[in-house]
Amino acid sequence: QMFVLSGFSTNEITASKGTNKICDQISDAVLDAHLRQDPDAKVACETVCKTGMVLLCGEITSRANVDYQKVVRDTIRHIGYDNSEKGFDYKTCNVLVALEQQSPDIAQGVHVDRREEDIGAGDQGLMFGYATDETEECMPLTIVLAHKLNAKMAELRRNGTIPWLRPDSKTQVTVHYDQKDGAVIPKRVHTVVISVQHDDCISLDEQQRVLKEKVIKAVVPAKYLDDKTMYHLQPSGRFVIGGPQGDAGVTGRKIIVDTYGGWGAHGGGAFSGKDFSKVDRSAAYAARWVAKSLVKAKLCRRVLVQVSYAIGVAHPLSISLFTYGSSPKTESELLQIVNKNFDLRPGVIVRELKLKRPIYQDTAAYGHFGRPEFTWEIPKDLKF
Ligand SMILES: *[C@@H]1O[C@H](CO)[C@@H](O)[C@H](O)[C@H]1NC(C)=O
Repeated sequence: QMFVLSGFSTNEITASKGTNKICDQISDAVLDAHLRQDPDAKVACETVCKTGMVLLCGEITSRANVDYQKVVRDTIRHIGYDNSEKGFDYKTCNVLVALEQQSPDIAQGVHVDRREEDIGAGDQGLMFGYATDETEECMPLTIVLAHKLNAKMAELRRNGTIPWLRPDSKTQVTVHYDQKDGAVIPKRVHTVVISVQHDDCISLDEQQRVLKEKVIKAVVPAKYLDDKTMYHLQPSGRFVIGGPQGDAGVTGRKIIVDTYGGWGAHGGGAFSGKDFSKVDRSAAYAARWVAKSLVKAKLCRRVLVQVSYAIGVAHPLSISLFTYGSSPKTESELLQIVNKNFDLRPGVIVRELKLKRPIYQDTAAYGHFGRPEFTWEIPKDLKF
């Protein structure tokens, strides 16, 4: 039985749905700037972008002294917006700051005599983690390829190999799958879509040729490409203006690109701009850690893990999992293994996954999962 599923990825920023990825990166750059000076900073930072303007808003409790103008401009420069011809310029854009600072002493009063591992979840909510054995990184092939296409374009733009590329890009990959015993097995790439912002001086034919030769062939293993694979390269025909001049963006609009490309499930909470005490982020990372650990231990080939929390309560209200029939064990047997091996209180997750370090800006482009540099991607040795 065959079925077809698509996965998509947006680069630093996106074309049709706004400048949302720029906003995620700025929110996480602000979080990192606080954590560098105060690992206990509590940060909830949203970003809004539109032509020539960046607005930061949210609540922060921190001992750090952060130069927001510099953090925002450095992030935009890193993304590649250094000229108003490209639609945005880090040197001249307006940076408006509407962050409310609360004295750390107030929060200190709330947490006094509470050991860190007993601190409660910052809010109620439910989060999912997913893992599949179809790729080495235990991620769906659709989203792995979609992210790699964007990363390759950024690499070739930055190192000068394809000088006409600009920072805004979107990709989408559709894969033909087989199903067996609950696992999914990629057979071939059905369709590749790339839309990328470009300089005005280059013909559409040449863009399509270069994208196919230098980007797609470098990223997609040859065994997945055949003469029926379809390509939609620069389908809009012309994409010179991109980024914040193209359309507005806000933090937290790319939750599927950030996670599993539409596979598994999503509890709805976004990640960027939030410190570990927000379980939207830390528990989604932990649920992925649980899911990947189960798959790497060969206890199942594919699994979805759900956790839920209440504000102020440390232990999860529930932990559930679903293996799609891909495990020789029952789900309740697997749940016992999870309960024996993982403590999913936020104050324990932060210690085990080292979430007080300033690592977040890197998570905000190319997905939060499937990247070996992050602690939640290192499978735990399970005792069972
Ligand atoms: C740019 O990166 C590509 C891909 O890794 C590599 O093949 C190429 O040699 C690099 N070019 C330069 C100028 O560094």
